[in-house]
Amino acid sequence: MKSSPLLLCCLLFLASPFATPATLPPIESPPSKKMKRIEVLHWWTSGSEIQALHSLKQKMETTGHHWQDFAVGGLAGESAKNTLRIRALSGNPPNAAQIKGPEIHLWGNSGFLTPLNDLVQTEDWDTQIPAKIADYLKVKEEYIAVPLNVHRVNLLWANPMLFTLSGAQLPHSLDEFFIAAEKIKKAGFTALALGNEPWQEATLFESIALAVLGTDDFKKAFLLGDETVLTGEKMHLSLTTFRRMKQYTDSKSPGRNWSATTALLIQQKAAMQFMGDWAKGEFIAAQKKENIDFVCLPAPGTQHQFSFNTDSFVFFKTKDKQIRAAQKAMANLILEPEFQKEFNLRKGSIPVRMDLDIHAFDACAKASKQAFLHAAKTDNLLASVSHSMGLGQAGQSALFDVLSRFFNNDEITPEESIRHLRAAVLADKL
Ligand code: GAL
Repeated sequence: MKSSPLLLCCLLFLASPFATPATLPPIESPPSKKMKRIEVLHWWTSGSEIQALHSLKQKMETTGHHWQDFAVGGLAGESAKNTLRIRALSGNPPNAAQIKGPEIHLWGNSGFLTPLNDLVQTEDWDTQIPAKIADYLKVKEEYIAVPLNVHRVNLLWANPMLFTLSGAQLPHSLDEFFIAAEKIKKAGFTALALGNEPWQEATLFESIALAVLGTDDFKKAFLLGDETVLTGEKMHLSLTTFRRMKQYTDSKSPGRNWSATTALLIQQKAAMQFMGDWAKGEFIAAQKKENIDFVCLPAPGTQHQFSFNTDSFVFFKTKDKQIRAAQKAMANLILEPEFQKEFNLRKGSIPVRMDLDIHAFDACAKASKQAFLHAAKTDNLLASVSHSMGLGQAGQSALFDVLSRFFNNDEITPEESIRHLRAAVLADKL
C-alpha cells in the first residue's frame, strides 16, 4: 500500500517531542480545500528552529500559499537527508527540501531539481550572496538552491553566573579553557555541556582542530586531504585535546540532543558549550539576555577563523502550476530583506545577504558578520566539516564515526584513530 505523505508527516509531527512554542502567532487564514499545499522537508524541530521557520510559513500563507510541514528532526539533518533520498528515489519527492553543501551539486546534477532561473530573477544574487557560498548553490552557473543564512560553527557559549561563582575567566585559548574548566569542576558544576551524538562531538572536535592546526593545516588536512598533515603531530594533539575534554562533561550526555544540551546553560547547570550560533536561538527563545544570562565568544584559539555553515532550500521539479507558483513565492521570499531579518534574528545566524544592514541584531551577530568579512579577506573562511559543508556524505559520516569511537573508548589510541581518520577524510575521493 502506498503511504500518504500527509499521513506520514502528521504522524511524525505528533510523535515529535518538540512542541510549538505558545508565543507563536497563529498562521492566518485556514487553507481552502481547493488550494494545494507545498510540502517542505526539513530538520528544524527545536524551539528556536520552529520559531524561525514560522516566519517563512506565515509569509507563505499571506501570499496565498499553504505549507505542508514534513519535519524530520535529529542528528543535525542526517535523518532528514536519508528520508529525502528514499522519497526522491521512490518517485515521491517533496516540493521543497533543506539540503546544503556539496550535496546540492549531487542533487542538481541528478536532474531532480528545478533551476531557479526558471522560477525567479537571480541576476542580483551574485552581488548579494558571498561568492564562497554562491559556489555551493550553482550548477553550470545557474542557481539551483536558495540560501537562508550564515551560521558560525566555531563558537563557545558560556554561562557568566557559573564563571563568577567558580572564580573562572572566560577562555580565549585552549590552555585557558582547561584552567577555567578545572576551576568550574572544582566548584561543583559541569564545566562542559555536550550531548554524545557523533555530530555534536565532531562540532567540538572541529573547533579544537581549527585552534591546534591553524587555518592552513586545517585546510590541507580536511579540505584537501593532505596525508602528511592528516597523520601528523598536530592531528595527534587535536585528538588528545579532544579526549582531555571528556572529564569535564556530565554522566547524562549520551544521546542528549543539542538543544537539551544548550538548556543546561540556560538552567545554570553547565558553564560552557561548543556549538554553532543556532544555540543563540535557544537562549533568545528562552528570553535570555546576551552578556547577562549568556556570553558568546569565538571557540578558544580560533578568533580569526570562521567555520561557515549555510542552510538552503531546493525545489523539486513538478508540472503542477499551483505548486510551481508556491515554489516561486518561497524562493523569492527567502532573500527578501524583511524575511532575512526576522528569520535570522530567531535562528541565531546572520543574513546571507551581506548588503543588508544588521544594526537591529545583537552584539554576537554583529561580531559574527565582522568576523565573516575579515575571515573572507584574510583567507580564514573555512567550510565546516561537521555541518555538511566541507566534506561529502561518505567522508563526513566516516569522520563522525571515527571521532565518536575515539572520544568514547579510551582503549583506542590516537595512532589507531589517525589511521581511520585519514581513511575517513579520503573516503570522498574514492
Ligand atoms: C545544522 C544546521 C543548523 C541547525 C543545526 C542543528 O546543521 O545548519 O541550521 O539547525 O544543524 O539542528
